[in-house]
Amino acid sequence: MAFAERIDTAISNAIRSGQASPSPAKLASALHYTVTPGGARIRPTILLSVAAACGDDQPVLAEAAAAALELIHCASLVHDDLPCFDDADTRRGKPSVHRAFGEPLAVLTGDSLIIMAFEVLANAAHLDPMRAVALMKVLAQRTGMPNGICAGQGWESETEINLSAYHRAKTGALFIAATQMGAIAAGQSGADWEELGARIGEAFQVADDLRDALYDEDTLGKPVGQDDLHGRPNAVTEFGVDGAIQRMRDILSGAISSIPKCPGEAMLAKMVTAQAEALTPIKWRAERAAVPGE
Ligand code: IPE
Ligand code: IPE
Ligand code: MG
Ligand code: MG
Repeated sequence: MAFAERIDTAISNAIRSGQASPSPAKLASALHYTVTPGGARIRPTILLSVAAACGDDQPVLAEAAAAALELIHCASLVHDDLPCFDDADTRRGKPSVHRAFGEPLAVLTGDSLIIMAFEVLANAAHLDPMRAVALMKVLAQRTGMPNGICAGQGWESETEINLSAYHRAKTGALFIAATQMGAIAAGQSGADWEELGARIGEAFQVADDLRDALYDEDTLGKPVGQDDLHGRPNAVTEFGVDGAIQRMRDILSGAISSIPKCPGEAMLAKMVTAQAEALTPIKWRAERAAVPGE
């Protein structure tokens, strides 16, 4: 089965069990609304790619890990869009969860998805209890304080922002979780995979800054110009558009050279290259393809 199908099936099963009777109907629909249709599912795709590169000897555990990670990501977006954070009216081309269901249900949707992520891992723990505990630990570390996405969002309430700690926690954390959890699900040590996740996360943050500066709301499906609006430091104001594109490419080639030795090393290098192309804004992709001899 293709990665996308494995991810979607695992997420749908989790959501369905969260909607079992007796459940409050609106919150049950909000859970489904939040994860469907999904976004790019980049984090669980990286997770399954790393698991495959390491042999994927426990595919169902890897799928649980992929679903858990994407549930945390989706929860973080629901909370991020709330009026007390970014006050965003749209997400993935439709009204954000609080616009569709109201603030109380949006807070509860995010909370429920975070809890569901850990339940998914607990339900798969019989497959390999030691690996499952390690997966839960990494997911917790990269979700909470001091190194997770909560810390990342927390930096936005400080007067002095430590930019690298902010980006590493806000965006990098779930990419580090992706590479580490993929390795752990396949029985490898997570420690060796931190650098790859951190580098992909850093490149992703630069790509997101570019999209925020260059695209319109219809293309992105979420409000644009947010970095300027909220006065947040970003790669485009720091390096300009061309500089930011170059920086993203440099970080990704560094990512490729940091791939640990494993049976699927070449396949992973291809995956990172494909992600780099997908992350590059369209205009620059076309220009690059037009350069003779490249
Ligand atoms: C958006 O992440 C939030 C950031 C960390 C920049 P994605 O761009 O992965 O969002 P979806 O899941 O594809 O919608
Ligand atoms: C969202 O970051 C990241 C988390 C929720 C952890 P942003 O606020 O920069 O991303 P978008 O633009 O809303 O997707
Ligand atoms: Mg935000
Ligand atoms: Mg936001």
